[in-house]
Amino acid sequence: MSRLRVGVLVSGRGSNLQALIEAAKDPLYPARVVIVCANRDCAALELAKKAGVSRQLFRLAAFPDRLARDQAMVKTMRLHGVELVVCAGYDAILERTFTREFAGRIINIHPSLLPEFAGTMDAVTMALEAGVAETGCTVHVVTKDVDQGPILAQRRVEVRPDDTVESLRERIQAEEHALLPVVVKRLAGQPLPISL
Ligand code: GAR
Repeated sequence: MSRLRVGVLVSGRGSNLQALIEAAKDPLYPARVVIVCANRDCAALELAKKAGVSRQLFRLAAFPDRLARDQAMVKTMRLHGVELVVCAGYDAILERTFTREFAGRIINIHPSLLPEFAGTMDAVTMALEAGVAETGCTVHVVTKDVDQGPILAQRRVEVRPDDTVESLRERIQAEEHALLPVVVKRLAGQPLPISL
């Protein structure tokens, strides 16, 4: 079985990356993480190292500008034969060169029911402050318009009266960790790129 080659972009803890790596331990899972790229030193990079997955750091300061950084990331993804890019807590906006190069082949996981609380890394705090009764998580296709690409799947999470940002984030992330591997599995079974 040839498995879909996945490149993961990270900036933080890497719990969604971990969920994908865990899923791919099943030899019947139709995808595997072949490269992890980070824009900062982060726990996710350490996690990739422990799992024996290739990884590379693309600190913005090491490049003349964002364009050059993203061009370098494209090159790395290509070198690893990446067929699907997963943004898993990646906190920078991708340059057009990247979204064009991988059009219909980039997905993102976001901790809200998009289109609510889009374009931020603080969607959980925003949901809590807005007093909504439910929120959740979304996996969507990445296009040049931040958090606006076609939605592939969502899971709902109830907001409890005694929730803190931490407790709510924990329940949303539990859903993310279940949802992301399911969506990647689904994409591995269909022709790519996803038509936009
Ligand atoms: C996840 O909850 C993801 O939805 C969120 O960052 C977290 C990363 O956690 N992404 C965004 O907010 C994107 N705007 P992780 O590093 O433990 O996977």
